[in-house]
Amino acid sequence: MQRDTILILDFGSQYTQLIARRLRELLVYSEILPPGTRALSLQARHPRGIVLSGGPDSVHQRGAPRCDPRLFELGVPVLGICYGMQLMSHVLGGEVKRSGHREYGQAVFQPLASGALFRGLPPRSRVWASHGDDIRRAPQGFRVTGSTETNPIAAIENPARQLYGMLFHPEVVHSEEGAKVLANFLDVAGCRRDWNARSFVAEATERVREQVGPKGRVICALSGGVDSAVTALIVKRAIGARLTCVFVDNGLLRKHEALQVRRRFAERLRLKLVFVDATRRFLKQLERVSDPERKRKLIGREFIEVFRTSMRKTGRAEFLAQGTLYPDVIESVSVRGPSAVIKSHHNVGGLPKSLKFKLVEPLRFMFKDEVRKAGLELGLDEEFVYRQPFPGPGLAVRCLGPVTKERLELLREADAIFVEEIKAASLYRKLWQSFAVLLPVRSVGVMGDDRTYQYTIALRAVESLDGMTADWVRLPYELIARVSGRIVNEVRGINRVVYDVSSKPPSTIEWE
Ligand code: XMP
Repeated sequence: MQRDTILILDFGSQYTQLIARRLRELLVYSEILPPGTRALSLQARHPRGIVLSGGPDSVHQRGAPRCDPRLFELGVPVLGICYGMQLMSHVLGGEVKRSGHREYGQAVFQPLASGALFRGLPPRSRVWASHGDDIRRAPQGFRVTGSTETNPIAAIENPARQLYGMLFHPEVVHSEEGAKVLANFLDVAGCRRDWNARSFVAEATERVREQVGPKGRVICALSGGVDSAVTALIVKRAIGARLTCVFVDNGLLRKHEALQVRRRFAERLRLKLVFVDATRRFLKQLERVSDPERKRKLIGREFIEVFRTSMRKTGRAEFLAQGTLYPDVIESVSVRGPSAVIKSHHNVGGLPKSLKFKLVEPLRFMFKDEVRKAGLELGLDEEFVYRQPFPGPGLAVRCLGPVTKERLELLREADAIFVEEIKAASLYRKLWQSFAVLLPVRSVGVMGDDRTYQYTIALRAVESLDGMTADWVRLPYELIARVSGRIVNEVRGINRVVYDVSSKPPSTIEWE
């Protein structure tokens, strides 16, 4: 069955991914394609509608991204947002005036009664607008369907051809009625609302089944995180016992984590699991290393070695399952590559091409929130599915200075106390991350009648949308006091606790 789909052409806006996410939240599948995708290729995918995203350019600029003008002739409803609207006007013979400067911000939008996309909107609502070029004259056949204080032509439509444009970004939350506007577009396009956890798990499973065939065997490296877990569960659903999972305990995990992995995946979810205890190997390598980048490299290299060796136990397989998510895929098709998204430097756990696996990537078309929903659908528990991110090199980058068994133990205990209290205060899911860091400095303290000279723990709690920027969290003093008291009393070897009050940038979230 052909799924109702909206195709989004990406003209480089930082919000393009959000458009896809919002449409999917409205239960319609949507995919992002390069701006110049040919009308014929678009047509071949039978979209119900096409969205032209915003973008940083002016349509008058040389080299500004263009679309195939024939897409307006396909008889498919088109929504142009910001640059997308200007481009549509420009291509169809309207007049776009160059204003020379670009300004983002709040505006008040006033729809005109006739606009099909503004049905059910109040007479005035706040929108997130982008004042770049202005439309001076709409193309023939179009009428104006809304305005803002500064812009008399803030929205246009050609009802006969089902072409719509708006200056503001309905996909961002600052546009109060944005979801309603997008829902109206989906109605105009006649989309069925059937993109839900069950359907995307079913689709991904089917794709794996097709790719792997009736005999193929797959290996999946579990990291302990949600992406690799959901990947494994989908592959298992598709091919059953022909999947073998590998989990490498690198000795850098949090308290009880290795045990939980065994319980959750081997016992409860019945995945065939090769559990490799490589703690000694990793710690031996890290014993005398303090430099953060060297730590990362060593851990990455060691992981590959251990993985290679573990294949003696897993037996041969021609496929490797990986938890690549849709945002990584989009980056490779977007106009400017990763310009809007600052690619993170970390990819510990990546495997070299020399292993000659064919990749199976069941999450290729999913956003993180969809992966979580898929996880619940596949029987993972909420606590696991909504875990905060944890870096690949684990506690090594939170144990400043040399990484030893003893120091890791201090860090683990302190971290467990902090997270326990954060959970007890019902803050865990509101925070991007909350964790402890062990500093390499010792300081003097007093305990009873004795002088102590021990290590310091730094507590870090941040809020963030994507990890690219982050703000430190104003935790209640009472909570910090309780955590500090518990750590100093319960973790022998720590006599001081500090709270990290730096944001990213200029600091990073992790200390190393
Ligand atoms: P930073 O510290 O760069 O972290 O502000 C941003 C986000 O990325 C996570 N992080 C890592 N993840 N391997 C990973 O898989 C790494 O080496 C790594 N370093 C940082 C960090 O936890 C945060 O969520």
